[in-house]
Amino acid sequence: QSRSSKLQKPVNGKRLLFFSLPLQGHMTPMLQLADILHSKGFSVTFIHTKYNSPNPSNYPHFTFQPISDNLSEAETSGLSVFDLAYLINVKCVAPFRDCLDQLFSGSSEKRPFAGLISDPALHFTREVAKSFQLQRFVLRTSGVSAFRTFSSFPLLQEKGYLPIQDSRLEEPVAELPPLRVKDLPVINVPDLDKFYELIASLIEEAKTSSGVIFNSFEELENSAIDALRDGFPAPIFPIDKQEPKSVIYVSFGSIAAVKEKEFGIAWGLANSKCRFLWVIRPGSVNGLDWHEALPNGFLDMLDGRGHIVKWAPQLEVLAHPAVAAFWTHNGWNSTLESVCEGVPMICMPCFADQMVNARYVTYSWKVGVELRNGLERKNIERAIRRLMVEEEGEEIRKRALDLKEKANSTLTQSGASFKSLESLISCLSSS
Ligand code: UDX
Repeated sequence: QSRSSKLQKPVNGKRLLFFSLPLQGHMTPMLQLADILHSKGFSVTFIHTKYNSPNPSNYPHFTFQPISDNLSEAETSGLSVFDLAYLINVKCVAPFRDCLDQLFSGSSEKRPFAGLISDPALHFTREVAKSFQLQRFVLRTSGVSAFRTFSSFPLLQEKGYLPIQDSRLEEPVAELPPLRVKDLPVINVPDLDKFYELIASLIEEAKTSSGVIFNSFEELENSAIDALRDGFPAPIFPIDKQEPKSVIYVSFGSIAAVKEKEFGIAWGLANSKCRFLWVIRPGSVNGLDWHEALPNGFLDMLDGRGHIVKWAPQLEVLAHPAVAAFWTHNGWNSTLESVCEGVPMICMPCFADQMVNARYVTYSWKVGVELRNGLERKNIERAIRRLMVEEEGEEIRKRALDLKEKANSTLTQSGASFKSLESLISCLSSS
């Protein structure tokens, strides 16, 4: 609900509008960015759909502006991320325009807002913002390497890498090292052309914006950032803001679903003899309420060695000194949070950008091990042993701590993220 229809008075004289895709992995970084910019003196008006709306009481210093999305419960239940994005792009155009109309006409100033920061997956924001002469920036919430790969889709199609052929999975993608064909960020959808179209519009949204903000930092993704800057029309601002931290933490994010047979995870954990904290979101196993599919007797035999929860305060867990490894689906937020806390990863990507992220974690940054060749017990045990017991694990742990150091130093006054944020603020302030 809207906390107040009256616009707050900004400290630095500038107001910003934000509009996120209503998915946790997109909404959380957008709220965090709004928080950072608020701390720099901007006032924040956060536009959101009624579907998956944020909790205003967590951000009493923002003005929340709901718009109707015309999405019925029947339409959204069981909807894929891809279909949801598609529907929102169709249904939210008029409500978004009405919302801006109301905000602009409610203000006596000719230009009440310094700019809009929106998700590039919300294509319609470009035309609408243009009609209000509103400067538009985009926040891309996945990594730069994955974004660069998406932006190379036309080339990948031309070269025959896409659509993916099973016989070529292990082949290197010569144009985008270190990726292999199986790392390309595709998702399983019946209509591939529609997926390519959505990706093309997302890239176009970013290209035509006044600047692309990434939740990342130069030291982590410098080659992808350089490659993107070279020839990309909009300026790039990588501004990761995370502060600097015997148990395996297991979580597969807010969207990925695992199949019942993949509950082999349970035996892998049991046999590893390690302690663990495992998040099983209700509904995250296809067709089941919670963890009924766990093997018989599994919980009893754990003898207090493991905990299963429905949700965990992930940042706090990763920062906890007891956590030795993160078994993750490599959603970008999880990957970055793990990097910033120096926690090595066991990578089990499920779809889209997660494949690219996992490849960088294991091959380029070497701060994790890959677990993709089937969830047989022996593969799981092998991955856990490599990380927790063998010498290789020691080295991985060292590199993870080095990377954490880089994440910390990028935030200091001479660091790249600090400077990137300063230059973003100056861009926003100059409109
Ligand atoms: C989605 C896509 O799956 C991912 O590929 C893309 O990069 C971002 O959008 P999601 O699956 O939700 O993301 O994963 P992720 O990006 O890792 O975000 C999950 C967020 O939920 C993280 O910030 C994590 O800290 C939080 N979380 C998750 C919790 O706080 N507690 C939990 O128990 C699980």
